[in-house]
Amino acid sequence: MKIAFVGKGGSGKTTLSSLFIRHLAAGHAPVVAVDADINQHLGAALGLTEEAAARLPALGAHLPLIKEYLRGTNPRIGSAEAMIKTTPPGAGSRLLRVTEDNPVYEACAVPVVLDGAVVRLMATGPFTEADLGVACYHSKVGAVELCLNHLVDGPGEYVVVDMTAGSDSFASGLFTRFDMTFLVAEPTRKGVSVYRQYKEYARDFGVALKVVGNKVHGPEDVDFLRSEVGEDLLVTVGQSDWVRAMEKGRPAPFDRLEPADRRALEVLHEAADGSYAARDPLRYTAQMVHFHLRNAESWGNAKTGVDLAAQVDPGFVLGGPSGQGPGPDPRPASGGLTPRPDSRPAPQPA
Ligand SMILES: Nc1ncnc2c1ncn2[C@@H]1O[C@H](COP(=O)(O)OP(=O)(O)O)[C@@H](O)[C@H]1O
Ligand SMILES: [Mg+2]
Repeated sequence: MKIAFVGKGGSGKTTLSSLFIRHLAAGHAPVVAVDADINQHLGAALGLTEEAAARLPALGAHLPLIKEYLRGTNPRIGSAEAMIKTTPPGAGSRLLRVTEDNPVYEACAVPVVLDGAVVRLMATGPFTEADLGVACYHSKVGAVELCLNHLVDGPGEYVVVDMTAGSDSFASGLFTRFDMTFLVAEPTRKGVSVYRQYKEYARDFGVALKVVGNKVHGPEDVDFLRSEVGEDLLVTVGQSDWVRAMEKGRPAPFDRLEPADRRALEVLHEAADGSYAARDPLRYTAQMVHFHLRNAESWGNAKTGVDLAAQVDPGFVLGGPSGQGPGPDPRPASGGLTPRPDSRPAPQPA
């Protein structure tokens, strides 16, 4: 399933994403973690050294490779140049899976060991001032959107995106690509105003949105959030000494996280699983087509010089019978493409 953590800067998106990723890894779930936050800190929050975090390959820098791989032999997509961030998969496209090895992961993902378990981490790369305008093409976040739209994930497999929800993610449709969106909000008016804006966009697209209160100090904070966001408040998290210790560079084993925070992570996990169970592949694909046509018309056709509407394969449903891709490679592990027997990402040199 595909899960996003969004919210105001400083609210705790990265912290809660990293705790959730650690929680999933502790339960031996396959995880692809994606850092798409303006401040690229997910690697550090997952325990990478500063040097290792700085060496993370940037998705944006590998966009040509990603496009070339994903378009496969899809006859509707003439070239990688004609592929924009919303170009949907169709017959002949290559799809990604959470646990397989593929050239995209090989170029863009690094293994991160968390208390013995291994997750894959991908990062958009740092944003610059120029990236943050309302320009029509943001290759960095665009790469994330392309990957999500080409990714077939099973139950119990997780893609967790630590994300900045800027105007670009609303224009491109990125905000509709998740089974569950956790909006991290401190109990403040600003924290709640980001929720209102998100909710407004989300309403028309049936986006599953839940608020996670963070840095909550007591019942008054909980009451404030409850009165502002009502039923959308899923759970709250207090100041964590475990997080503070990690920030000081003295991480404790994950099983020492405060019991209340562990329970909160279980609540997030259940909410995500429940939302995945309600996923509708037809709607998911229809929305990607909707946003592709909108982006094609507003800038994509002019930029690429082709009629991008022709890229839509009307018979294709991601995750439906037509959109499963070729399936896992049945060759033995020595073939290099098969998930390892325990279905965990294979460690690769950093
Ligand atoms: N529950 C928490 N307990 C203790 N510190 C927290 C908690 N949540 C966030 N923080 C701290 O608050 C700061 C901002 O959090 P961060 O996750 O980086 O926010 P964001 O990614 O939304 O910008 C960090 O220093 C982080 O360690
Ligand atoms: Mg952050």
